[in-house]
Amino acid sequence: MLRVLVCVSGGGTNLQAIIDGIQKGTIRNTEVVRVLSNNQNAYALERAKKAGIEAVCVSPKDYESREEFNKALLESVRAAKPDLIVLAGFLVAIPSIMTAAYPNKIINIHPSLIPSFCGKGFYGLKVHEAALARGVKYTGATVHYVDDGTDTGPIILQKPVEVLPDDTPEVLQKRVMEQAEWTILPKAIDMLANGKG
Ligand code: GAR
Repeated sequence: MLRVLVCVSGGGTNLQAIIDGIQKGTIRNTEVVRVLSNNQNAYALERAKKAGIEAVCVSPKDYESREEFNKALLESVRAAKPDLIVLAGFLVAIPSIMTAAYPNKIINIHPSLIPSFCGKGFYGLKVHEAALARGVKYTGATVHYVDDGTDTGPIILQKPVEVLPDDTPEVLQKRVMEQAEWTILPKAIDMLANGKG
């Protein structure tokens, strides 16, 4: 069984896709051992609790410095003894003490086709706003390993999604989630859990 820790900050629809995938058997040999949020109010924490998964919050607001927060984050991760850390809408810059402790063991879902619309400042709705502003005809999502850069690690899976003429950032975000993110994130975890990484 691959022990997975999922890090979240918001609604948690990608977390839900993982929970559902494990339940349906499309993600095999995997258990989510802890869900960790930096945001106490993240609905993702409720999703975890409903699924009977331990849900914890490590908030930067409770620490005097970024360094103290980073240490607490790493401690909470370590306590769960994960084989794999999945960033599913986790809007915290991963500290180098974490990437050093878990080389090639952290993956992230990003809502564009990397290397487009990624890096510092590109997260959530901002990614889709930028894609629409540039006028691309296709966007999509990417699952990649996390290294010390922002969205720079090796790519595991990508899936393109068509941009339609009347799209708003919100409409495009939803289509990218439905047609790409909720498929490729569970698929990547299943691959890694079953020796196809
Ligand atoms: C997702 O679209 C994910 O790709 C994005 O945040 C959203 C979280 O939604 N992540 C990033 O932008 C990371 N740079 P969710 O909480 O419903 O899964």
